Amino acid sequence: MNIKQLLSDKTQAAMIAVGLPADTNTAVTQSTKVEFGDYQINGAMAAAKLLKTNPRALAQQLLDQLDLADIADKVEIAGPGFINVTLNKDWLAAQLQPALLDSRLGVSLNVKPQKVVVDYSAPNLAKEMHVGHLRSTIIGDAVVRALEFWGDTVIRQNHMGDWGTQFGMLIGHLEDKIAAGVDLETVALADLEDFYREAKKRFDDETGFADKSRDYVVKLQGGDEHCQKLWQLFIDTSIKHSDEVYRTLNVTLGHEHIKPESAYNPMLQPIVDSLKATGIAVEDQGALVVFLHELADKEGNPSPFIIQKTGGGFLYATTDLAACKYRSLELGADRIIIFTDARQALHFKQVEVVARKAGLLRSMTSYEHCPFGTMMGEDGKPFKTRTGGTVKLAELLEEAVVRAKAVVEQKSTELSADEIAEVARKVGIGAVKFADLSKNRTSDYIFSWDSMLSFEGATAPYLQYAYTRVRSILRRADVAADFNAPLILVEAQEKQLALKTLQFEETLQQVMKDAQPNLLCNYLYELASLYMTFYEACPMLKEGIEPKVRDSRLMLSIGVSRLLAQGLDLLGIEVMERM
Ligand code: ARG
Repeated sequence: MNIKQLLSDKTQAAMIAVGLPADTNTAVTQSTKVEFGDYQINGAMAAAKLLKTNPRALAQQLLDQLDLADIADKVEIAGPGFINVTLNKDWLAAQLQPALLDSRLGVSLNVKPQKVVVDYSAPNLAKEMHVGHLRSTIIGDAVVRALEFWGDTVIRQNHMGDWGTQFGMLIGHLEDKIAAGVDLETVALADLEDFYREAKKRFDDETGFADKSRDYVVKLQGGDEHCQKLWQLFIDTSIKHSDEVYRTLNVTLGHEHIKPESAYNPMLQPIVDSLKATGIAVEDQGALVVFLHELADKEGNPSPFIIQKTGGGFLYATTDLAACKYRSLELGADRIIIFTDARQALHFKQVEVVARKAGLLRSMTSYEHCPFGTMMGEDGKPFKTRTGGTVKLAELLEEAVVRAKAVVEQKSTELSADEIAEVARKVGIGAVKFADLSKNRTSDYIFSWDSMLSFEGATAPYLQYAYTRVRSILRRADVAADFNAPLILVEAQEKQLALKTLQFEETLQQVMKDAQPNLLCNYLYELASLYMTFYEACPMLKEGIEPKVRDSRLMLSIGVSRLLAQGLDLLGIEVMERM
C-alpha cells in the first residue's frame, strides 16, 4: 500500500482534467506538521508558473477535479497554493487491516523487477578489515536486503582488492622468511596487520626491497606459479578474517559473492588495446591515458585517467572498466550501485565516462556511485586506536559486545547468563550498525559508544527494547497466533500510528531510490516513538476496556511488532523476545 502513490495518481488525473500535461510533477509529500494534515499536494505551485496563472486559483481548479471522496475527511487549500489532505480514519483502517497479517506487511511486490549489481564491502586483502570497511559493508547490505524484499534480482559483488602492488612486498617478505627457515604452514599470517607493517617498513627503508617487490608483482600478474601459491596464502587467510567479520555483523555476503580484482586480469589487455585502437586512449609519457574534457577543471584542463602504466602495469582504474563490461554487458545489469568512501567520487565519474564512450556500459545501465563520509572519533578526527593506529573491525565489534553486556546486565535482572550473552551480542552489534546506518550517508559522523548504547533516542537498543515491550504486551494479553480483529481507529494516537504503519512502503521506495538506509532508521524510530505515545494514551490491558476497542489496539500492536522486526531485519539487526 502506497498512499503517496495513490494521491499522486489521483492528482495527476485532476491535472489532466484541468488541461495540464500528463507528466506534470504532482509533488505529493507526507506532511511535516499535523496542522498541514497527513499529506500535501504541492504541484499546483510549479504548474501555475508554467501556465502563468495564479497558483491558488489553479489549486482550487485541481481541488474541484480531485476525487478523494472516501479517502479524505478534509482537503483544503493553504498558503500560496498547497493542498492539504487529512485522511479518513475508516479508510485508513480498511487499508491497514489486510496489511497487518500479510507476510509482506502490505508492501507490494515490484511489478518490473530490475537486475541490480551491488558492489559493497570490497576490503583490500593485504590487510585485515578495519573500521573504514564498516560503512560500505553495512550500508550496502541494508540496501541489498531492501531491494530483494521489493523483488529486484540482486547480484552482490564483493570487489575485493587482491591484486594491488602491496602483494609484491608481502610475497617478497614471505619469501625471505621462508628462506630463513620459517615453515610456510605456520608462518605468522595470524596477524596480517603485523606482517603488512613489517613488509611496508622494509619497502620504505631497505635498499633493493622495493625493486624486488615490484618484480614480484609483475611475476604474480604474469601468472608465475610460485608467486601465485604464496599470494594465495594471504588471500585465504584474509578471506577467512573477513568471513568472520561478516558473520558477526550479520551481513549476507558469502564466498559466492567474491569477485576480486584478480578475476578481471584476463580482460584488461584487450580493453586497453581497444581503447587505444579507437583513439579514446592516447600514449602520454609512456603511459596510456584517456583525457576527459567532460571532467575538465576550472582552467579547462582535461581530467587524466590512466589505464596502463609505463612498463605495462594495469591499475585499479583498468579493473573498474573491466568490471563495467562484465556487469553491464555480461550480467545485463539495469542498475549498478557501488558503495565506497567519498574520496573515490572522481574515480567513479571517470570510469563511467570512459566506459560509456568505449561501449563497456550499455546506455540503459544506470551507474550509481554512492559515496559515504568518514567515521570520526570523539575528538572529531578520523577514528583511530589510542596509539593512532587503524582500528580492526573485528576488535571493534568484540568491544561492542562487551560494552553491551555491561549495559544489559544492569537493565535485565531476570535473564540467565546465556540469555544475557545472546542479548548482549544482538544489542552490541545492532548498536554499532544502527548508529552508522541512521546517519545521512554522505556526511562524516562521530563514533560514540555512549550514545549508540543508550536506551533513549534513535538507537538500536531503543528499538530492540520497544520490540520487546510490544511483545510483552501481546504475551500478557494472551493473544492467539491466529488472532484477527477489526481495526477501529478512534483516538488521534491510533490514527497517527496506523498512518505511520501504512507508510512502510513509501519509506522503502525512497531507501532504494537513493540508497539511503537512514530513512528506514528514522522511520522505525518514529514508529516506535508513536507506539510509546499510543501505549500511554490507549490502554489495552486495563480492566473495563470495551473488548472490541482492546482487540483493535492489540491488532495494531501485532502490526507494529511485525513491522519493527521486519524493518530491523532489513537493516541486518536482530530482535529478541526479552531483554
Ligand atoms: N577495495 C576498494 C577500497 O578498499 C573498494 C573497491 C570498490 N569497488 C570498486 N569497484 N572499485 O577502497
